This record gives sequence, C-alpha cells and structure tokens, in this order.
Amino acid sequence: MAILITGGCGYIGSHTVIEMVKAGYDVVILDNFYNSKPEALRRTRELAGRDVPFYECDIRDAEGLRRIFREQSIDAVIHFAGLKAVGESVQKPLAYYDNNVGGTVVLCQVMAEFGCKRMVFSSSATVYGMNNPSPLKEDMPTGAVTNPYGRTKYIIEEILKDVCVSDKDWSVVLLRYFNPIGAHESGRIGEDPNGIPNNLMPYITQVAIGKLPRLSVYGDDYDTHDGTGVRDYIHVVDLAAGHVKAVDYALGHSGAEVFNLGTGNGYSVLDLVHAFEKASGVAIPYAIAPRRAGDIATCYSDPSKAERVLGWKAARGVDEMCRDSWRWQSGNPRGYDQ
Ligand code: NAD
Ligand code: WQD
Repeated sequence: MAILITGGCGYIGSHTVIEMVKAGYDVVILDNFYNSKPEALRRTRELAGRDVPFYECDIRDAEGLRRIFREQSIDAVIHFAGLKAVGESVQKPLAYYDNNVGGTVVLCQVMAEFGCKRMVFSSSATVYGMNNPSPLKEDMPTGAVTNPYGRTKYIIEEILKDVCVSDKDWSVVLLRYFNPIGAHESGRIGEDPNGIPNNLMPYITQVAIGKLPRLSVYGDDYDTHDGTGVRDYIHVVDLAAGHVKAVDYALGHSGAEVFNLGTGNGYSVLDLVHAFEKASGVAIPYAIAPRRAGDIATCYSDPSKAERVLGWKAARGVDEMCRDSWRWQSGNPRGYDQ
C-alpha cells in the first residue's frame, strides 16, 4: 500500500513527502522537474531517511502513469503537480489548461483503470474569488476567479466533484490552501522560485540576502488596518501535516469533501515585513508601489471544518514561519543550485 505524490519534488510536495513518511506511509514520488530540481529530491529523500521511489514522468503521459501503477501498489494519490504562476497564466492560458486540467483528467483516467479512486487535490483559496467576505468558509460560492490559473483550480474542483457523483467508489478531498510560507526546520528544503519571485515571502527573503534591492509593497490604500493587503500565511510544514490527515480521511470515506487549510489569522504585508525583520535581524527596505492587478484587500480562512472533521489545526505562528523561511534562504542563497 503506497501513496503516489505527483509534484512531490516541488515546494509543498517535498515537505509533504517527509510528513507522510513520518506518519508511516509508503510513498512514491512523480515529477517532471518542470519547476523543481533533482537536488530537491535528493534532500527530501535524505530528510525522509529512505530511498523513496521516484518516477520522472509527466501527468499528461498516460503510458508513463500506467507503468507506475503497474509497478507500485498505489492506494491513493496526493495531486500537487501543476503550474502555479498567476501572471504567466494570463499570458499562456492554454499551457495552464493543458497541464493543470488536461493533466488531472489523464491522471484520473489512469487511476480509474487501475481501480485507484482516492485523491487529495491541491486547490487554492483563489477559488473564492473577489466577492466573498473573510473569514472564507467552504460553503461560500466559488468560481468568480480573476485569472486562468485560478480558473484551472475551480474547473478541476468541479470535475472531481462530477467524478464522485458518477461513481460512488471515488473519494476526493479538495484542500484549499491559503498562503504557504516557511520551510522545513532543517533548512535543507524550501521554496526555490525561478527568476524574480511573484510571491511576497520569497521576495522578502531575496531582499534580505541582497539579491534584490527592495520590496515593492503593492498598495497602501486598502481597507485594512495599515492599508496593505491582508493574507492568511500558513507554515508549509503545517500544510504538509494537513495532507496526512486528508489521506487518512480519503481512505475511509467516499464522495468529495472540501477543506480550507489556513490558520484563520490575517497579516498585512507590513505585518509580515516587520515579523521577518524581527525573526532575522535584517532590515527590509521597501517602497510603496501601485496596487497589483487582481489583488484583493483581505483573504483569510475559517479553518474550523478541518479541525472538526480532520482533527487538523495549524500549530506554527508567524515568527516560526519567518524564522524557517530565513534559515532556508540564508543557508541556500542560490536555492538548490550549489
Ligand atoms: P511547485 O511548482 O513548487 O510544485 C509543483 C511540482 O509539480 C513541481 O515540482 C513541478 O515540476 C511539478 N509539475 C508541474 N507540472 C507537472 C506535470 N505536468 N507532470 C509532472 N509534474 C509536474 O508548486 P507548489 O507551491 O509546491 O504547489 C503545489 C500545488 O499546490 C500546485 O498545484 C499549486 O497550484 C497548489 N497551490 C500552491 C499554492 C502556493 O502558494 N504555493 C497555493 C495554493 C495552491
Ligand atoms: C501576498 C500579498 C500582495 C509581492 C497568490 C496566488 C494564490 C495562491 C498564493 C496558488 C498581497 C503583496 C506581494 C510583492 C507585495 N497561489 N505583495 N509585494 O496574491 O495572496 O496569492 O499566491 O494558488 O492563487 O494569487 O500571494 O504572496 O503574491 O501576495 O506587496 O512583491 O503581498 O499584493 O497583498 P497572493 P502573494
């Protein structure tokens, strides 16, 4: 009995591999290294303390997937593999629909061929769109998304719900992540974006190591306590632990169930900058810049359903998130490139 982890060499996937092994699961990793590196796999195996089986494979390659299902006894899939850059998705929508939506359809078809009908899927708070007030709850309307990336997550959620309606043997857990930051406490694995980071925390850490001159704060005139955007930052190891609980749940239920994975706390851009400065002892120069298109003022979760049903709750606070992001970045100034 093993759990296949697609995208298991990526940021969230690598941390989840470690938490799953710690919880006693056998895991198999699949990745095409589109947005990750073999060095991440090497270090993940090192931290897991075992030679976890790995397949270099694309989720759109049905024959490649069949080989994995033939060679391994897979009971469930944690499905991280996908493209995730919001801005790029506006430029290349077809690549996002092909990889994220098309890839998920091929993966589900091959799973069904082999009678494996349990999946935990990486969805996103982005599916709540522009119109819902925070705290965001799982039963609020979804779909008013602002970009093709978000639309792929919304469409995949709907596809997976339809699959569960069509065949009662399917069990799907849709996890809506809020804003994952932080890194494994060893400082050996973490987020390693290509080029200039799009997301706030990797931008802050690259300013802190001197790779970038200053942070642009996108807007200080939002209706928030200090005018800057408020988000629900969650430590990636807490997020990874949520996947262990979600797999436990998927193995014992059928149908589709949705859970927010967040802390329920909102921090502004400047709150995060100051928390990072305190944790690292490094000053972060910043300048106020215009709002970024598509951003909303405030987005944080109501995480109570995950606590009630899965028995999961985020344990790490923002100081730990900043400390661990900094340990990773300062110990690996060039990420996985040595
Ligand atoms: P990541 O890019 O670090 O990891 C994704 C991994 O999937 C990479 O290793 C990449 O090489 C692999 N991959 C991509 N397309 C593939 C394909 N066709 N076949 C095989 N492998 C493929 O991203 P992450 O931050 O770890 O995110 C994981 C998942 O969580 C994604 O689906 C993402 O959309 C979702 N998510 C991420 C965030 C976030 O802020 N990081 C928030 C919400 C949801
Ligand atoms: C956080 C806050 C920015 C960068 C995105 C995706 C979402 C999800 C997580 C995958 C906002 C501000 C940022 C910078 C800034 N991903 N900011 N200067 O936008 O909440 O969510 O990542 O599903 O779908 O949209 O995260 O980290 O980009 O921004 O001021 O250089 O930081 O305006 O208020 P976001 P983020």
